Formats: sequence, C-alpha cells, structure tokens
Amino acid sequence: AALAWRRARGRGRWRRAAEVVREFEEGCATPVARLRQVVDAMVVEMHAGLASDGGSKLKMLLTFVDSLPDGTEEGTYYALDLGGTNFRVLRVQLGGKGSLILNHQVERQPIPHELMTSSSENLFDFIALTLKRFVEKEDGSQHHSDDERALGFTFSFPVRQTSVASGVLIKWTKGFSIEDTVGKDVAQCLEEAMTKRGLNMRVAALVNDTVGTLALGHYYDEDAVAAVVIGTGSNACYVERTDAIIKCQGLTNSGSMVVNMEWGNFWSSHLPRTSYDIALDDESPNPNDQGFEKMISGMYLGDVARRVLQRMAQESDIFGDTPQNLNVPFSLRTPLMAAMHTDDSADLREVKTILQEYLHISDVPLKTRRLVVKVCDIITRRAARLAAAGIVSILKKIGRDGRTKGKPRRTVVAIEGPLYSSYAIFRDYLNETLVELLSEEVAQNVILKVCEDGSGLGAALLAAAHSVDR
Ligand code: GLC
Repeated sequence: AALAWRRARGRGRWRRAAEVVREFEEGCATPVARLRQVVDAMVVEMHAGLASDGGSKLKMLLTFVDSLPDGTEEGTYYALDLGGTNFRVLRVQLGGKGSLILNHQVERQPIPHELMTSSSENLFDFIALTLKRFVEKEDGSQHHSDDERALGFTFSFPVRQTSVASGVLIKWTKGFSIEDTVGKDVAQCLEEAMTKRGLNMRVAALVNDTVGTLALGHYYDEDAVAAVVIGTGSNACYVERTDAIIKCQGLTNSGSMVVNMEWGNFWSSHLPRTSYDIALDDESPNPNDQGFEKMISGMYLGDVARRVLQRMAQESDIFGDTPQNLNVPFSLRTPLMAAMHTDDSADLREVKTILQEYLHISDVPLKTRRLVVKVCDIITRRAARLAAAGIVSILKKIGRDGRTKGKPRRTVVAIEGPLYSSYAIFRDYLNETLVELLSEEVAQNVILKVCEDGSGLGAALLAAAHSVDR
C-alpha cells in the first residue's frame, strides 16, 4: 500500500511539473490577434519616438546616415565592432564599382568579463590595443604611419548622435555597466585611447550594429530598407523619410535618414509577460528597461528556461533534490537551450547530456526530457513570433505591409545574429509568422537576407563613404 501511495504521489508530482509548463505556455501565447495588437502598439510608439526625444520608450535615434553604400566604395578600411559577447576587428578591401568586397579579415575575441563593468578607460584601452596589434599584423610595411586612416566603429548601444562620426552613450544594455562612459562621446573615447597607443586613426563613422547590417545589406541589394539584429541583444533600424522625423527638422537637408529604433526597449501591455519574465527583469542590472529584448534575444532566453525548470524542480521531484545549479543565474546559456531544442535523437541524448553537464541533473527519464524540450520550444516560439511582429511594424510604418494599392514592392530586410542565422527552429517560426501576419503574396515580396558580419563590414563601408567627403 505504501508503494502504491508513493507511486501515486509521484504521478501527482509529475503532473504538477507538467502543469507548470502548461501554465507557462498559456502565459506565452501569441495568437495572431495579439501579435496584431503588438504591431499596432509598436507603430504608435514609433510615431511618438520620432516626434520628440523622450516621447516614447522606443528611442528612434537619429543616425545621420542619409545615404547607404552602393558598391562604388574603394580602398582599405578597418572596423571595430563592440556590442555583443564578442569583440571584432576587421580589415576590409573594397574594389570600387562592380568588384564589391575583395577581401576581408576578421578577428574575434571574447570580451573579458571584468571589462564590462570596469572603467571607460580600461575598456577603450583594451579595444585600442587589440586594434593596434591587428593593424600591425595585417598592414605589415604597406602603410606609412603618418597617413591617418579612417575607421568604422560599430558601437551597439543606444547613442545620441550629433553627427555620423560622433555621439554620446545614453545607457548601457546587455550586461555592460560602466558608469563613467554614460554621457560621453564614445568616438572621442576611442580616439583618445588610440592616440595613447600610438595609432593614427580617426573614427569616420560611428554606427549601431543594425545600421552596419543595413549598410551591408544595401551594398549587395538596393531594395534593402531595414535591418534586424537578433543576437545577444535585439534591435532594428530602417530608412525613414525626414519629413516623418519631426524631431530632426532643421538637422538635415536630405530626404531620408536611417533611424535606429532601439526596439529592445519597446514595451506594451499587449506583450505576453509571465512571472518568470518579471523575476528576470527584477534581478537584471537594468530593471524596467529592454523589456522586448528580454523576451527575444540570446542573452536572456536560456535564463528564462532555467527559471521555468527551477520552478518545476521546486514544485515536483522530477529532477530529484533541487539541483543547485538551477539556482545559478545564466547557468543555462541560450546556445545550450537551442541545442536541447534541436536534439532530434529518439532518446533525446543531447538533452540528457546538457542537463547533466551544465545543470547537474542526472537520470532524467525520457518523458521529463520531452517536457524540457517543450519549455525550450515555448520560449523560442514566443521570441521568434514577437520578432516577426516587430518586423511587420516597420513594414507597416513605411507602407510595405500590403495595405497600399498596387503590386507589392520587393522589400529586403537585412538580418544578422545567431538566433536567426544558426537556429533553424527560431528562423522557421519567424518566417511562418511573417506569412501569418502579412498574407502570402506580400510575404513573398519581403526577403529576409542574412548578412553575416554585417555590423562590422557595414561600418567599414560607411567609413569609406564618409571619409571621402571630409
Ligand atoms: C541592444 C543595444 C542595441 C543593439 C542591440 C543588438 O539592444 O541597445 O543598440 O543594436 O542590442 O546588438
């Protein structure tokens, strides 16, 4: 009788864990009607952000990029790309009309964790030093050091720009937090560090990663009008008519300008938010900020999953005694979550290994492993569908969502970041959702084009374009 009782209790507990997952799924629901509300809310916020600084959580930042690369750029340019988990240095050779990018070298380096919270001086010195070593290696004797070189600087945080080559940091995102950089001109910070290290370079273009991605997208395809990044963080930019940017009146004579939306900070009550999202936000270094990003991007998705598994462990005994690692923030990184989600072996071997190695949970029966995969699926599906809604908002704002009469125009959206480029399930969900929101015919004319390394390459292209006219 005792055994039967224990078994029944075990079943009851398993059911409780399954219920935690079911409740979570309900909380994450993104039916089309809800996504349409998100789209409409984002379009409203876009208008508000374009009207005045501080008009919306959606910052809609001016970039002063009023023309995009077209393939005529020529020469050798360097670029620095700071903003995600990795830091990149690039050297790009441009061949001029018709020949496109001849050659490029990239060096990637993880950013030492302590630098993300140390001082401005340490951070920029590290960057300048890495760049210097790279330039010395790549340049050899080909370059006379008294010739100043133009550099593209991709700095992927919200920056209030004053020109295409300067701007002050508004606030940090994605786990960076260095108080004394906020309010400073980051191009100047970099130039000072380069001078100290004896590098004769000048920032010719200071760009957000989305803007770099759009620049590369446009270089290859002139129908590119917007760009999206879904990596450590998430954001988008697009080409807007200047007469629709009320806050930019008098600042430019050109007809259009790229606007950096900083959509990571978008917020609306229509977003499907759960108690796990609230806890993650509360415990983050930037509570109440980057709400959309925290539901979409690589820095956070794995940790949402960890929180759900943690709750399952608390409410049932399916993982044995609550495994300690489940209580450690970020012990489950998004790439691991994606690997579990993508496990197509019949016995979910990969799920088993990852649970064991990273969370120290062993002997998980198949049924429970399936539940874990379900959690990953719920999170990824919600993220991809929300990102799709974001893209549709842009299309709607610029009249490319199919409501205007006539044949739909071909529209290219450049996209970068591992969630879309290397996580097939995420990509499929996103593409599917675009079709649901746009109709088949319009969706067929919206092309999402992966632009690998776009953020850095694009910055080099913009440096090329802007070093000529200075
Ligand atoms: C964060 C940054 C934004 C960047 C995005 C993707 O949202 O604030 O500037 O574009 O991450 O890297």
